[in-house]
Amino acid sequence: MANNSGEQPAREEPIVNIVGEKVALGPLHDDLLPLLVKWDNDFPTADLQGGDMRPRSRHAVTAFWEPLIQGGREDRVDFAIYERATLRPIGHTNLRDLDGVRRTAEFGITIGERALWGKGYGTEATILALDFGFTVLGLHNVMLDTWSYNERAIRAYTKAGFREIGRRREAQRIGNAVYDVVFMDCLATEFQNPLGSVVVHH
Ligand SMILES: CC(C)(COP(=O)(O)OP(=O)(O)OC[C@H]1O[C@@H](n2cnc3c(N)ncnc32)[C@H](O)[C@@H]1OP(=O)(O)O)[C@@H](O)C(=O)NCCC(=O)NCCS
Repeated sequence: MANNSGEQPAREEPIVNIVGEKVALGPLHDDLLPLLVKWDNDFPTADLQGGDMRPRSRHAVTAFWEPLIQGGREDRVDFAIYERATLRPIGHTNLRDLDGVRRTAEFGITIGERALWGKGYGTEATILALDFGFTVLGLHNVMLDTWSYNERAIRAYTKAGFREIGRRREAQRIGNAVYDVVFMDCLATEFQNPLGSVVVHH
């Protein structure tokens, strides 16, 4: 909305916690909900991110995300992903099923803006989230699973430091076509952040 002088009000910059070269990570917030509704209803994105392809109302999407936006969950950490140059929200990433005894977690990521796939954003966001997991949360092993046909994800994960540890055969199905589920993990002792640690003390 224009103000009295006819100028657009300056858009408030989002809060970010971790800044990389291409992306920045920050807390989830309510203003992301319209984008989350859009991304969760994009069938190719919903499938590739491991979910079911089904219509999701604003109400249903809000019911899922609202508790995560409120925070306070001991078992997971969620970040919004921003394009660094514009600070525009482009997706989200998480470390979930955090187990402090075993120092393990599962990893998830979605770049919701399809036009921005393949620009290195997912690889860098994965590196930043892994570094946070290993450095700040003290994790030792982070695991993920993905569909075997999600070659872009497998490539991005491999570049970030994950490696394949096995497959659950023919456990994904679209119509009559069956696909493997690929499991990958990364150890703190193997991980290197080419950008330098997310936690820098001067
Ligand atoms: C998976 C995802 C996070 C990857 O992020 P991204 O920013 O698109 O990926 P990046 O650009 O960092 O890296 C992709 C790599 O895969 C390559 N690639 C792209 N399409 C490919 C394909 N069809 N086959 C093989 N490699 C492919 C790219 O060339 C790039 O590798 P390179 O840098 O060596 O050239 C993102 O695409 C996404 O969110 N997709 C939808 C949801 C999803 O799949 N989430 C993951 C669930 S497990």
